Amino acid sequence: MCGIVGAVAARPVSEILLEGLRRLEYRGYDSAGMAVWNGEAIDRRRATGKVQSLADALAEQPLPGSLGIAHTRWATHGKPEERNAHPHMSGPRLAIVHNGIIENFEVLKRELIGKGFEFTSETDTEVVAHLICDQLNSGVELLDAVRNSVTRLEGAFALGVIEQDHPDRLICARQGSPLVVGVGIGENFIASDQLALLQVTDRFIFLDEGDFACLTTDKIQIWDKDAQPVEREIHQYEHGVSAADKGEFKHYMLKEIYEQPTVVKATMEGRIANGRLLEQAFGAGAGEIFDKVKQVQIVACGTSYHAGLVAKYWIEDLVGIPCLVEVASEFRYRKVVLSEGTLFLSVSQSGETADTLAALREIKDKVLASLTVCNVPGSSLVRESDLSLMTNAGPEIGVASTKAFTTQLVGLLLTTLALGRRHGMTEEKEAEIVAALQTLPEKLEEALAMDADIEAMSAAFAEKHHSLFLGRGPLYPVAMEGALKLKEISYIHAESYPAGELKHGPLALVDKDMPVVTVAPKNGMLDKLKANLQEVQARGGELFVFAGDSDNLQPEEGVHVLQVPDVAPILEAIVYTVPLQLLSYYVAVLKGTDVDQPRNLAKSVTVE
Ligand code: F6R
Repeated sequence: MCGIVGAVAARPVSEILLEGLRRLEYRGYDSAGMAVWNGEAIDRRRATGKVQSLADALAEQPLPGSLGIAHTRWATHGKPEERNAHPHMSGPRLAIVHNGIIENFEVLKRELIGKGFEFTSETDTEVVAHLICDQLNSGVELLDAVRNSVTRLEGAFALGVIEQDHPDRLICARQGSPLVVGVGIGENFIASDQLALLQVTDRFIFLDEGDFACLTTDKIQIWDKDAQPVEREIHQYEHGVSAADKGEFKHYMLKEIYEQPTVVKATMEGRIANGRLLEQAFGAGAGEIFDKVKQVQIVACGTSYHAGLVAKYWIEDLVGIPCLVEVASEFRYRKVVLSEGTLFLSVSQSGETADTLAALREIKDKVLASLTVCNVPGSSLVRESDLSLMTNAGPEIGVASTKAFTTQLVGLLLTTLALGRRHGMTEEKEAEIVAALQTLPEKLEEALAMDADIEAMSAAFAEKHHSLFLGRGPLYPVAMEGALKLKEISYIHAESYPAGELKHGPLALVDKDMPVVTVAPKNGMLDKLKANLQEVQARGGELFVFAGDSDNLQPEEGVHVLQVPDVAPILEAIVYTVPLQLLSYYVAVLKGTDVDQPRNLAKSVTVE
């Protein structure tokens, strides 16, 4: 959603904060701002638009000083205008940055207006600044003033606070929104994501829910939700700094698509040996838990939900137990009936998605155990689940998820093996799937080699307004994911259907202006799929088929066929994802959209 960064140092901090914002821009990019203690007062610059607009403002009017906070915004309350951009101030005294949503802000706002506070923005955040100031005005010490104020907040927040009478302190608090402390030498930092601070440190403390902290240049004090002082472990960042750079690629998205052979390998590393899955990868006690699992409930959002849908096919086919899949925003708000022995399985790139996290918290005590397949170590989902399997995709910066999806699929296939072993899967079957998995990096390389053909094909989409994506079996969720990618970055309306559903309605839409993309691997469903394609062809629709068996699917008038590498059936869902990612990428490039930061979206949805 929004991105926060803060620093207390002995050197000027505005460049550090600005670089932090650039790295956090994926979280929101409709306005940005910075406030720095300049030795005499708290000074602030804000600008609408991307972080570059703030950088331009700072170039004209720099902000010198060694204590500061900064923010990049994804608007929730109030339009993306300068007056709504963070930091928000209460008079000249105090500045704050906030990520999250304060649900009771209207009640608090009325109370504060009654006390004479003037509001200059439409945001929920401004109430927090005034609440703290109100406490300070009545003589409460700064730390207590912040603490007392946050106890009055309902909703989600990560906050950074600076105050003019304490120019040596950076105060922060979190509840429901991510916040890390970056540990430096003679300087300390806060940020929504470690990535923002990799330029200055590789040591991080992940604050727990309800934590509150005070940072000076040489000290980090943390209190838990009960106001008890606590020590939190310092973690070393594991990925190389280069993981967050674009390198030779024009966009992060393309770089991340091309990283897939490497990161799927990293997701398998240490998890399989001698043709067997090492189930310790899921955490202590995993085997005992897997033994008792009678049903799996997968919960996730967006792309991660699509990964869950693929896993349903695998789990029911190979493990033979029921697997339910639901989007988190529905699951968390309805009465769910789960049978005994349910494993709750969340899938998430960020590990901070508000709906997925809320679903876990809601159901945790009612299920056998919780497992998360997640990409961010130390994230809330990882910390709050009983078991976890990290996807090792490294930082994903492009807002449209690519390598996170394929590594999630690998993680979910490993989960299928772990469950399968406890439910009668033979060693031979396990070894066969492991052997197939070991060919995956090479198969993904082969799929990437389709790049130039797909780029050429993309021209047929650039002028279109609508499209259909079809698949069958586990390739149906892959078609869903392909449609989501195209929508997200090219803004072309794309709908996905299980191919067998065509004649039950969507066929009415098919004409020459409706390209129909189909994923058609060489499997038992191919003949059925071919019949569906003929239904499209007969209505004058233009077909784009990603085929496993191009001998059996010939190009002809209105039918474009692209050969996808021949792969083991279990890998089809993973490998066929790649051409669809490339297609949406090249269509977006042709249309000239902002590929890495598409309009209206943010990478990590930490609010409802
Ligand atoms: C789409 C995309 C989103 C996310 C969704 C869940 O490209 O990235 O649909 O998949 O917001 O996010 P995570 O996986 O972080 O829980």
